[in-house]
Amino acid sequence: MLKAVILIGGPQKGTRFRPLSFEVPKPLFPVAGVPMLQHHIEACSKLPNMKEILLIGFYQPNEELNRFLSCTQQDYKISVRYLQEYAALGTGGGIYHFRDQILSGSPEAFFVMNADVCSEFPLPEMVDFQKEHGDAYSFVILGTTANRKQSLNYGCIVENEQTDEVLHYVEKPSTFVSDIINCGIYLFTPEIFQHIGAVFQKNQQDMLLYYDEGEEQSNGWHRAEVIRLEQDIFTALAGQGKLYVYKTDRFWSQIKSAGSAIYASRLYLNQYHQTHPERLATNREGGPKTRGPNVSIGTGVTIGAGVRVRESIILHGATLQDHSCVLNSIVGWGSTIGKWARVEGTPSDPNPNDPYAKIDSETLFRDGKLTPSITILGCNVNIPSEVIILNSIVLPHKDLNRSFKNQIIL
Ligand code: GDD
Ligand code: GTP
Repeated sequence: MLKAVILIGGPQKGTRFRPLSFEVPKPLFPVAGVPMLQHHIEACSKLPNMKEILLIGFYQPNEELNRFLSCTQQDYKISVRYLQEYAALGTGGGIYHFRDQILSGSPEAFFVMNADVCSEFPLPEMVDFQKEHGDAYSFVILGTTANRKQSLNYGCIVENEQTDEVLHYVEKPSTFVSDIINCGIYLFTPEIFQHIGAVFQKNQQDMLLYYDEGEEQSNGWHRAEVIRLEQDIFTALAGQGKLYVYKTDRFWSQIKSAGSAIYASRLYLNQYHQTHPERLATNREGGPKTRGPNVSIGTGVTIGAGVRVRESIILHGATLQDHSCVLNSIVGWGSTIGKWARVEGTPSDPNPNDPYAKIDSETLFRDGKLTPSITILGCNVNIPSEVIILNSIVLPHKDLNRSFKNQIIL
């Protein structure tokens, strides 16, 4: 039997996703028309012996999350539960804290996945790879190739090319280590908790040595429970014959910024031709004619005559009035774009001539200037007719009265 854990983080993360993350927790932001996490859940549910999916994070459970849980349980006929950490325990601390829940029912192995990635999720391949490469004492990391410069933003893996064993692991190195990067998708056996447990014990001992009596106990406990899989576990397991890398050349990308959500949507929309043709628009007789690449349209969106949209995400309840044009933008829930208005951003796509380029998690400012990026309209923004909004971020509930270029409109 198998299980899966998805690390969804919590509210203080996802700052690069503002203002969109004000309305919906980043893991539920729609990518190719469905919440980001649903792609992970669907991939897991396709494994015949997958019994349960646990979401671990420190979001306060809300209606939206509960609705998502019950819908996915029904749609995929699998148990999906949310386990809330009392504080951010790190990528290893959360799974250690909830180890009894993960191990109940005695799974032979379980996946752990970062929520903020998009991937073809080669999970069956990872299961087979684990069987070939090891025993109950070995673990698998999904890896892919990045270019040298971009590799520095990821966990980097040096492998033994014959055996695929991980010889060195360095999280976000400051100089080049390897072009094989960690995709944030792992296959563990229950044995992993021995290793995380050892780090926990050590942290506790360090606390005792370090703090005087009288230091608040619970605080010390909390800090001992914060464990990072990458720095605390993988770095130590590398070269011990326990950690292996399964390399994929299928699509994979991080989803850190709003721009990368548009990019991830494109990857999943391409996949829909095989996996979900029903989710793609059809040009029915008498219906609206649609064409053009990479557009996701939410429910209850009104689109007028002569509107053009490409490389964009239009969230539910938005209105695009006649002849408006939306390019490389995200239009927030309930926003309205007036007639003949133009909302345009600059894409942040990876260089197509570099096969190993990844999308840059762009910084908001460079040289004191807002870097040109996709345009984001927060929820309930009104754009009047005949104006141009270029490379701008508009916070929710704004009624604009003129054109804007390269601005954050607060
Ligand atoms: N539950 C929980 N608790 N989840 C967490 C916590 C925590 O305290 N901290 C982070 N996460 C979740 C995030 O929501 C995200 O899904 C994932 O863990 C990793 O987030 P980060 O810690 O921000 O790391 P990163 O995305 O910069 O880098 C990681 O992913 C890369 C691949 O996308 C690392 O694993 C890199 O090595 C890897 O290359
Ligand atoms: P493709 O034909 O898909 O290859 O696009 P393109 O390379 O010709 O360029 P672009 O994406 O800039 O847009 C061209 C189309 O968008 C034309 O059909 C225009 O009529 C339409 N378009 C461009 N700007 C606007 C605008 O401000 N408003 C409206 N309604 N349409 C526009």
